[in-house]
Amino acid sequence: MSNTFFQKDIVSVRDFDREKFEEVFKATDKVIEMNPNERRELARGKTLGYLFFEPSTRTRLSFEAAMASLGGTSIGIADASSSSAKKGESLADTVRIMSLYSDVVVLRHQLDGSSRFAAEVSERPLINAGSGTEEHPTQAILDLYTIRKEKGRIDGLKIGIVGDLKYGRTVYSLLYALGNYRANVRLISPPSLKVRSDSTYEIRKKLAYTEATDLEENLTDLDVVYVTRIQKERFADMEEYVKVKGSYKLGPELLKKMKDDVIIMHPLPRLDEISHKLDSTPNAKYFNQAKYGKDARAALLALVLNEKGI
Ligand code: NCD
Repeated sequence: MSNTFFQKDIVSVRDFDREKFEEVFKATDKVIEMNPNERRELARGKTLGYLFFEPSTRTRLSFEAAMASLGGTSIGIADASSSSAKKGESLADTVRIMSLYSDVVVLRHQLDGSSRFAAEVSERPLINAGSGTEEHPTQAILDLYTIRKEKGRIDGLKIGIVGDLKYGRTVYSLLYALGNYRANVRLISPPSLKVRSDSTYEIRKKLAYTEATDLEENLTDLDVVYVTRIQKERFADMEEYVKVKGSYKLGPELLKKMKDDVIIMHPLPRLDEISHKLDSTPNAKYFNQAKYGKDARAALLALVLNEKGI
């Protein structure tokens, strides 16, 4: 019997149910425990093709490192201005060409809907590595994996999501994903950066959450604090950005008011929203999160590429 991810696109976490998440988490545990020689058989002779139309550090590098750890190779375009997109080639043609040269295609693009569209023209499974302000499904997978690993569970936890909830695509994927668990979610943002109302209808169907603006007042009972960067590049009006820039800063003083065993997460890159002074505390989990990202992506690639799974 083939595993449910075999040769499938990964476009949105809205296509996932709890079993699917658990399947990837189990596979992630397995690839971490596997001996490297065994792990290198999972994508031997296979090629990952990546197309990044927006900047990336972790997502692209962790996909490449993941593919290498499975014995495969990666080819790609890290900066679309160096590709024929610059000459006016369409996204459809660029994706189609990449899918002729690779076994799985990884796409990051500034447009909402780009991944769904690309999956239709791709000859190979397509993985969304960030589509506009809409979604970043592999980030949500590694985010949930991190919570499960660091707190031992997801159900029953009080999770605060802080920052730019309007434009942060990691937030949307995380909220859709949390809808499969019994978590208690508090959304903390400036009023102008609340979760977009076109998405709340769908989120509310599966997830109970409350909204707040004051960070200090709303931190004391949280088990997980997920901080996000204000997405400057997505603002149509820079004056609006200036108004909210630097709204929230998590430093040692605020940490003292929080639960001793709170975990602090961030998809990264961070600007000034988490003080570097927190990096050496046991609460800071954002670097662990980035580390798990490689293994979670390796597990996902292994599932997509191997009919029998891992
Ligand atoms: C995020 C993204 O690209 O959405 N980065 C990432 O992949 N970890 C978050 C961000 O850019 O703020």
